[in-house]
Amino acid sequence: MGYYSIVGAVARMFPAESAHNAALCALKSGLVPSVAPVLHDNLRSRVWDIDFPNPVGLAAGFDKNAEAVDALLSQGFGFIEVGTVTPLQQSGNTKPRLFRLPEDGAVINRFGFNSMGVHAFAVNLKKRRKSGIIGANISKNKDSLDAIYDYATSLAVVYDLVDYITVNISSPNTVGLRDLQQKQALDGLMKTIEHERTRLAAASGKRKPILYKIAPDLTQQDKEDIVEVAFSNNIDGLIISNTTISRKGLQSSYRNERGGLSGKPLFGISTETLRDIYRLSQGRIPIIGAGGISTAGDAYAKIKAGASLLQLYTALVYGGFEVVRDINQGLSAMLERDGFKNIRDAVGQET
Ligand SMILES: Cc1cc2nc3c(=O)[nH]c(=O)nc-3n(C[C@H](O)[C@H](O)[C@H](O)COP(=O)(O)O)c2cc1C
Repeated sequence: MGYYSIVGAVARMFPAESAHNAALCALKSGLVPSVAPVLHDNLRSRVWDIDFPNPVGLAAGFDKNAEAVDALLSQGFGFIEVGTVTPLQQSGNTKPRLFRLPEDGAVINRFGFNSMGVHAFAVNLKKRRKSGIIGANISKNKDSLDAIYDYATSLAVVYDLVDYITVNISSPNTVGLRDLQQKQALDGLMKTIEHERTRLAAASGKRKPILYKIAPDLTQQDKEDIVEVAFSNNIDGLIISNTTISRKGLQSSYRNERGGLSGKPLFGISTETLRDIYRLSQGRIPIIGAGGISTAGDAYAKIKAGASLLQLYTALVYGGFEVVRDINQGLSAMLERDGFKNIRDAVGQET
């Protein structure tokens, strides 16, 4: 049993949120040793003019306030995404709001964007010392009267501090948020964001990619609309997907808790959504695949379904940071076995 497995085994004895906070605290305090990243040429790729050393990223929600950026950049990830951050500080939903479903390899959360607010988030990001690729995931405050204004506000604050920005319109724990995925609302949001980005790019001399993170619970019409609006607004990329509100086939006693379900039961629906969107967009929009990745085989399946890059979260709850190394090593071997010189040659090969 490795270091992280032992830490993980101890952490699982505590309520889920306390264990998570302890893990974050250990990372922040330098108690978690760094891991040498897996470096194989076939895992390197260039997306949005950014050179990713490997495709395995940390998904949003693990470090909502960008408190442990240096330590997380030292765990073998190709990139990390921090947030979701809201413009103003807010405490999120009442506890308990995080549940482990070990029988299902899953987690249900209904945090509701607990956030220190974007200014404290920016202060934390400015303290970083380590190089590496960072994305910031932004969304709106619960009581906001103008969602689009919230996104534009946070975008401006984080723009110079990160490599890419994710516009989160898919968390199930903020009432009405997912409605922003509807055609007209999404078009309006994308237009304002693009307007703001043009201004920020001119001021900083650098055009940063902006991605939209979508839910897996979409109808065929929703998917067609999203692709249409994504094309008409020339967006840079999508993250597919956030957690699901579906509860199919779960065993655990917590299965009826409200919130977003992540981990193994999310794999199928998130991968099918990814495949559908890749097909509908003819592979012309780079996609980060997320949802239920815990093995190299899962990662490979997402890539063949159309993902250029990957993110995970729930697998860390059950396997610790060791999964990052295991997935990268396994993926590199699978690419070689199947005659793909580089990960980019495998993207969308099974659609
Ligand atoms: C506890 C928890 C908190 C999360 N918080 C956020 C969040 O703040 N913003 C977001 O975009 N996604 C959030 N997510 C979703 C993840 O980023 C990811 O999209 C989803 O969990 C699927 O990946 P996984 O199955 O590997 O966990 C959260 C997930 C979990 C488990």
